Amino acid sequence: MRKKIVAANWKMNLDLQEGTTLVNELLKNAPALSPERQVVIAPPFVHIAQTAGQLAATAHIATGAQNCHHEGAGAYTGEISAKMLKSAGVQYVIIGHSERRQYCAETSEMLAKKTDQALSNGMQVIFCCGEPLEIRDADTQNAYVQQQLEEGIFHLDGSQLSNVVIAYEPIWAIGTGRTASSAQAQDMHAHIRAVIAGKYGADAAENMTILYGGSCKPSNAAELFACADVDGGLIGGASLKADEFLGIVTAMTNS
Ligand code: 13P
Repeated sequence: MRKKIVAANWKMNLDLQEGTTLVNELLKNAPALSPERQVVIAPPFVHIAQTAGQLAATAHIATGAQNCHHEGAGAYTGEISAKMLKSAGVQYVIIGHSERRQYCAETSEMLAKKTDQALSNGMQVIFCCGEPLEIRDADTQNAYVQQQLEEGIFHLDGSQLSNVVIAYEPIWAIGTGRTASSAQAQDMHAHIRAVIAGKYGADAAENMTILYGGSCKPSNAAELFACADVDGGLIGGASLKADEFLGIVTAMTNS
């Protein structure tokens, strides 16, 4: 049975004290989760050691990172390697978020290398894909997302792929309040699963966790997570408040 996951991407929000308080609230109020359900908290880099320490005794809530560098070590001032993240307690690394593709000019080649770095250091990858509005308006989103997957993760073998989670985040739905409809999400998730099946076979596709991201809230999470191919969410704005995030976690536990 494939895992269901709700992951918090705090982006560049919350200082260390605010983040510590939020994690404590989540720990206090999180519902019990069965083994095939997972929560991930991805704070900014400087919070990670603190967050990982707070979550160390709670297996069903993992620590994530929002990025890692595409090289292993060296003269890259200001950068953070996968090995550093692993040593600080990180279990999941978000790679290829549209904000990093856009604002940090991350190329597919870099994302493939980041994926290799995270996997070879023993972490799971949450690989993001998703189209901008003009691609959706032209109705070419399926080919666009397929190319992102081919360029970012199709160099992996099947056993490496088993440590990858895919997050579909249509750019036009991120932080806009304009969520993809459950039909739009389901259509794309089914397409992604078919693309994975075409390359890696039916079992790999069946076991692949595919998250939806983009204005996911407690009020729409249950409907999105009820879709056959939506296995949870990658949450931005609504992950910054304990009650909102826990509402989404509860929707995942009930799905
Ligand atoms: P919002 O939930 O704020 O739309 O952000 C989604 C996202 O980008 C998560 O990675």
